[in-house]
Amino acid sequence: MTTEIHPTAIVDPCVELGANVQIGPYAVIGLEGEIRDDRNKEGTVLIGDGTIIRAHVTVDRGTEGNATIIGPNSYLMTKSHVGHDVKTEEHLTLSSGAKIGGGCLLGHHVNIGLNAVIHQRLFIGSFCMIGMGAVVIRPVPDTLKVVGSPARIIGHNDYFKDYEGYDALKEVTAQAQAAKERKER
Ligand SMILES: CC(C)(COP(=O)(O)OP(=O)(O)OC[C@H]1O[C@@H](n2cnc3c(N)ncnc32)[C@H](O)[C@@H]1OP(=O)(O)O)[C@@H](O)C(=O)NCCC(=O)NCCS
Repeated sequence: MTTEIHPTAIVDPCVELGANVQIGPYAVIGLEGEIRDDRNKEGTVLIGDGTIIRAHVTVDRGTEGNATIIGPNSYLMTKSHVGHDVKTEEHLTLSSGAKIGGGCLLGHHVNIGLNAVIHQRLFIGSFCMIGMGAVVIRPVPDTLKVVGSPARIIGHNDYFKDYEGYDALKEVTAQAQAAKERKER
């Protein structure tokens, strides 16, 4: 597979695409961020290898010469939006209609449900699950699952436990479980 851009998509010259990226119909990547202040709105967008961007997705470029970064192997579903200066590590899943406000930082394997919205400049940790329709107004630490408006924690996103290669996380989880069991004895 090679990088493919649908003929109706708009990809600004400031955008750097990795290998095997797909960009769907009417996607608009690399336009100026939606900001009312007078900061310098020149910046770039980096899209990691293997990322799929579906129809009508918008990704704004960074500001002040900085980049908006979508990590490798991410999947941005139709009509989702990524604001200026957002940075995500690999394997983001952004469901249809979901929106990430400008300047947010996301870890890896973050999963954001249908129509969820993330307030600007928040940190969302690795392996977090953001429920559909959530309104996230506070940072979310690694592996947590949040739902509702305003979003509240309902537990851990156990999905990460299935991943090989994340031994550090597994180790932390095992330690937490052992500590819990000791307390219950
Ligand atoms: C967040 C999510 C993973 C939770 O799933 P779960 O862990 O199985 O949670 P449960 O269904 O057991 O629900 C736990 C509680 O959270 C509530 N809840 C679950 N999802 C919710 C949501 N999206 N918004 C508000 N409340 C929600 C439930 O009502 C329940 O509340 P209660 O304990 O007061 O009864 C799931 O509901 C979700 O939103 N998935 C995303 C779906 C999606 O967008 N898919 C993309 C398709 S392309």
